Amino acid sequence: MRVEPAAALRGDLAVPGDKSISHRALLIGAVAEGESEIEGFGASRDTLSTLAAVRALGADAEVEGERVRVAGVGLRGLRPPAEPLDCGNAGTLLRLLPGLLVGQEGLFELVGDESLSRRPLERIAEPLRAMGASVRTEDGHAPLVVEGGGELRPIRYELPVASAQVKSCVLLAGLYAADGPTTVVERHPSRDHTERLLEAAGVRIGRTPREPAVWPAGRLRPLRVAVPGDFSSAAPFLVAATLLAESKLRLHGVGINPTRARFLAVLDRMGARIATFNRRSVGGEPVADLEVEAAELVAAEVRPEEVPGLVDELPLFALAAGMARGESVVTGAAELRVKESDRLETVKDALRPLGIRLETTHDGFRVRGVPSRPRGGGVVDAAGDHRIAVLGAVAGLVSREGVEVRGAEIVAVSFPDFFPMLDSLAQR
Ligand code: S3P
Repeated sequence: MRVEPAAALRGDLAVPGDKSISHRALLIGAVAEGESEIEGFGASRDTLSTLAAVRALGADAEVEGERVRVAGVGLRGLRPPAEPLDCGNAGTLLRLLPGLLVGQEGLFELVGDESLSRRPLERIAEPLRAMGASVRTEDGHAPLVVEGGGELRPIRYELPVASAQVKSCVLLAGLYAADGPTTVVERHPSRDHTERLLEAAGVRIGRTPREPAVWPAGRLRPLRVAVPGDFSSAAPFLVAATLLAESKLRLHGVGINPTRARFLAVLDRMGARIATFNRRSVGGEPVADLEVEAAELVAAEVRPEEVPGLVDELPLFALAAGMARGESVVTGAAELRVKESDRLETVKDALRPLGIRLETTHDGFRVRGVPSRPRGGGVVDAAGDHRIAVLGAVAGLVSREGVEVRGAEIVAVSFPDFFPMLDSLAQR
């Protein structure tokens, strides 16, 4: 895919529904009692893997445009499918679903694609075993096998890695614990969509800061949820419009949950001009319209405590930092090494053809920015990672000579309409 330079991004857009919330709403809806209705579902390859999984487990789900109806089978009503459950590329599915499966009768096997099969799973297997569940991985990777239905005890679990997926898995398993609350202790707060949705389903949730807890539940109320626009899908537009002079872009209905949209605060420190309007609550989540205009950026430091709140936006931060005045530094982001690709290395490789030289460290990177359009003209390899494909596209847009994004079709994992949307807003 060839991405030509643009002069500006102008217009209005609404990005698709949040991926994290779409996965969670399907999973929680599947074990609720009765029919859940999800509006603004963000259909993508990843969330469709979750849709297929809940169907394979016995929960009917019907899709009509952006509305999904899930016929919940009750907390313990999921049934082992004949075939292994294919999680595709979806880390969120592979890490969250086992939290529900430990409460179901039978043997469940979960598999994933090549990239997902390289990603660490002991991080969920270990706390689930501590609760008394039977969970096997293959040397810490998929296939993952859960033998569900045994007695589970509540735990208090200190997260060894900052991960909303691990936190969510443990909290979901806590629904099935024999008694008492299951508590997760996190050093730095990560996205809390699971806590919010469980609360909406009538579950008793403890909200001590950095110590969310779940009490065992007898039944879950079906969800009526409207999914806000995905902040991570809004982020490439925010960055491109900031970097392209003459830009003016309005993004409607974007989720700005503070545990998720930390990139806004970082862009603000860098001098970006992003205004938030019409703050409101949608489906129990804070939402706003965002208006962004071009701005000149200065370097910023991203500290470890901020990382969970912008973990998926760090590739885009790297590009913004590469065009900001001064040296930017990220620390505490070793998790980037175990995403869909080793994102510290793939971001560095993606920015090299632009002439942006990023220096990686064991847990982050530093980059000295040059506040002018990078040359471009080269090839960015998406490396099988949707966030790197998006990074390559934004890089092409803001460069002087454009960029060829190799493997660009991988954007379908999170945002199938990304390229047509970008094209409709780009002024050339
Ligand atoms: C996600 C959490 C993050 C994030 C991923 C989605 C979620 O992963 O990178 O894209 O939906 O909970 P970790 O929990 O591994 O940090």
